[in-house]
Amino acid sequence: MSNYNIKHFEEYFQIYRKSVRDPELFWEEIAEEHFIWRKRWDKVLSWDFNKPEIKWFEGSKLNITENCIDRHLRTKGDKTAILFEPNDPNSPAEHITYKKLHERVCRMSNVLKEQGVSKGDRVCIYLPMIPELAVATLACARIGAIHSVVFAGFSSTALATRINDSDCKIVITSDGSYRGGKTIDLKGIVDEALTHCNGVSTTLVVNRIGSDVEMKEGRDKWLQPLLDSASLQFEPEIMDAEDPLFILYTSGSTGKPKGMVHSTAGYMVYAAYTFKNIFNYKEQDVYWCTADIGWITGHSYIVYGPLANGATTVMFEGVPSYPDFGRFWQIVEKHKVTQLYTAPTAIRALAKENIEFVENYDLSSLRVLGTVGEPINEEAWHWYNDNVGKKKSPIVDTWWQTETGGIMISPIPFCTPTKPTYATLPFPGIQPALMDENGEEIKGNQVDGRLCIKYPWPSIARTIWGDHQRYKDTYFSAFKNMYFTGDGALRDEVGYYRITGRVDDVIIVSGHNLGTAPIEDAINEHPAVAESAIVGFPHDIKGNALYGYVILKESGESRDHDNLRKEINQIITEHIGPIAKLDKIQFVNGLPKTRSGKIMRRILRKIAGKDTANLGDTSTLLNPEVVQEIMDNVL
Ligand code: WT7
Repeated sequence: MSNYNIKHFEEYFQIYRKSVRDPELFWEEIAEEHFIWRKRWDKVLSWDFNKPEIKWFEGSKLNITENCIDRHLRTKGDKTAILFEPNDPNSPAEHITYKKLHERVCRMSNVLKEQGVSKGDRVCIYLPMIPELAVATLACARIGAIHSVVFAGFSSTALATRINDSDCKIVITSDGSYRGGKTIDLKGIVDEALTHCNGVSTTLVVNRIGSDVEMKEGRDKWLQPLLDSASLQFEPEIMDAEDPLFILYTSGSTGKPKGMVHSTAGYMVYAAYTFKNIFNYKEQDVYWCTADIGWITGHSYIVYGPLANGATTVMFEGVPSYPDFGRFWQIVEKHKVTQLYTAPTAIRALAKENIEFVENYDLSSLRVLGTVGEPINEEAWHWYNDNVGKKKSPIVDTWWQTETGGIMISPIPFCTPTKPTYATLPFPGIQPALMDENGEEIKGNQVDGRLCIKYPWPSIARTIWGDHQRYKDTYFSAFKNMYFTGDGALRDEVGYYRITGRVDDVIIVSGHNLGTAPIEDAINEHPAVAESAIVGFPHDIKGNALYGYVILKESGESRDHDNLRKEINQIITEHIGPIAKLDKIQFVNGLPKTRSGKIMRRILRKIAGKDTANLGDTSTLLNPEVVQEIMDNVL
């Protein structure tokens, strides 16, 4: 029995039990057999959830790009590593072989070194989904610099906050990006951001759309000429197991975004092992994850997981709706995609369109379907299963988080019987627990509670950049000796998990994790706004959409409310990005508050969701009268 390749359901249980009985032995065997190490570890695991401090494979030495690229060169040099499908369906796809990827990463590594980047430095990457994004990410890893990829849909303010928080000295960007029929002026956004970032000395600019951008003397450099004159060889920097590999920002329920720090060895082992099993990866496969590399899904399951297995991973620059809603299916047919990993919000959006968009294409190459990012509703699950998988491709509903680094709860295809809307069972090595409000673990089946994890796994984030206390407070303080996920979950009669959603002030909109506080902070900057509260409400396509309750400084019938709504959304777009725009904005005279002044979001959530039958006791509020008024004017 190989622990690395789980072939049937019984075997899953055996392997799972082994992973719980002796986690160190279990992970040690996997690490030993499937990766290359420059030096072996001295200790598999040391951990303390109270400090908190977690270390995996301590004492070992490695470079993750040697595992993702170099070791495949001898046997798979001419195999496609990255299959790039551009935004324009009439432009040719690009097949980047492992050999070519090696060359490109080495060139980029040399350029970064020449620009003064060294081990431990932070590099901000703000690029569209083009090959340079993957190449730059890997080049950072090769030289031992810490990459901080910022999703290129974020605004200049959000970008500046992230650059400053981790003190990046260099930004890699492009002149612009294509998005369906539009172009976006990325360089302009970077220029704006950098007026607030004193630490950035250099920006490297990819020429993607050929736009006429301003290049700031001494700071901005076109990347291509530097790459052209760089050497094709670069010896990887030898890293310690626990050296940070990257920082990736995620929203918190309060305050600024959290820069989650991921390690090198543990992250690599877990991303690779989960990829292999959860996507039933086989040598000839063409695997496609539709996420952006700006999110953790892209880090772990476009770049590191697939490449560590020597896979062919598709990178798609465009959007599902351009040139029409058949684009995804056209790509599946064209490249004979075997695994498709996407988000419920995309499935719902495509399910709304004419079914001919799907039926026009041959999807018979598909073997495994995946979903991630938010709970998938029953209807979307069936649509995906019936029309895309033709009832023969198992759906892996994968639950995980930026913080977990890899998939935690998911079926293993062809092993675990699936059940619509259920993420099913924990992956080997993962020990979930459901907790009640008094901090006690809820045992048994057919129960629900707050989802925690009892024992460390290799890819758990090690800290929040620059704020270890916040790491402790956010994840390790709610329940003693447990990692708290922020999600609620239920366990059914056979032990399958279903994730029911966030239990904190994070709202998942179209699979994007948004904290309410930063959005409220942005709105409150509008000169006419006194106070605001954001909640989520159910939305057919996005899963959740945002509802804002806004108190104006001067309440007045006289104000043009529609115009104010536009201005508020404009401010949000500037501060965070268009993904955080509000679908509905209700102007109110007051917000329901507790006597200690805390906004009762629970009530606001129910009103926004038109679920007011059971509002609970409102009499103890500071201002119970506002509730009726808000209900009377709900949008
Ligand atoms: C939150 C994490 C992990 C990559 C994408 C999101 C929600 C994620 C599922 C799923 C139900 C899910 C959770 C989680 N979530 N996957 N399969 N079923 N909910 O990463 O931005 O860090 O968000 O996404 O609420 O806590 P993220």
